[in-house]
Amino acid sequence: MTSFVSICIVLGSMRVSLLSAEAEITVSGHVGSTAVLPCELQSVGTETPHIWWITESEDVFEREGEESDQGEGYEGRVDVPEEELRKGNCSLVLRNLTLTDAGVYTSYQIVRRSKRSASLMSKRDLISRVNLSVQGK
Ligand SMILES: *[C@@H]1O[C@H](CO)[C@@H](O)[C@H](O)[C@H]1NC(C)=O
Ligand SMILES: *[C@@H]1O[C@H](CO)[C@@H](O)[C@H](O)[C@H]1NC(C)=O
Ligand SMILES: *[C@@H]1O[C@H](CO)[C@@H](O)[C@H](O)[C@H]1NC(C)=O
Repeated sequence: MTSFVSICIVLGSMRVSLLSAEAEITVSGHVGSTAVLPCELQSVGTETPHIWWITESEDVFEREGEESDQGEGYEGRVDVPEEELRKGNCSLVLRNLTLTDAGVYTSYQIVRRSKRSASLMSKRDLISRVNLSVQGK
């Protein structure tokens, strides 16, 4: 009986993660404009969340508290404002769009498994997937 229940829980959570991986939002903007790629965390703890945005081939942006990193080609154009992230809003602001910015962007929250374990022992939770399309002027 116990094992039946736990199998159901495993299957249930697999279905949820598959569904959320497919749920894709589309955002579009013109060359030179600013796009906001939506992202929202379910819950926010006392620590500022650690958020990571990537495309299929490159790092775009990473923020952990005050520390942030901008990917190659995105320097000076990307941000997840810290004060928004504290509220659980992990939306990516991408300024001065170029045609090559078009693509699928994925955001992850990096979560440490336990306070005691090494930082290597962390997992990443998929938060949102956004298909950005960019139109010429
Ligand atoms: C989330 O952050 C983005 C970018 O900073 C902002 O444009 C948007 O209005 C914020 N959304 C909410 C619900 O506060
Ligand atoms: C926007 O990007 C173009 C090249 O893609 C560059 O020439 C221009 O200076 C940039 N504008 C701003 C305001 O950063
Ligand atoms: C992203 O959106 C564009 C325009 O709507 C579409 O042509 C393209 O197939 C989409 N890409 C993916 C990976 O869904």
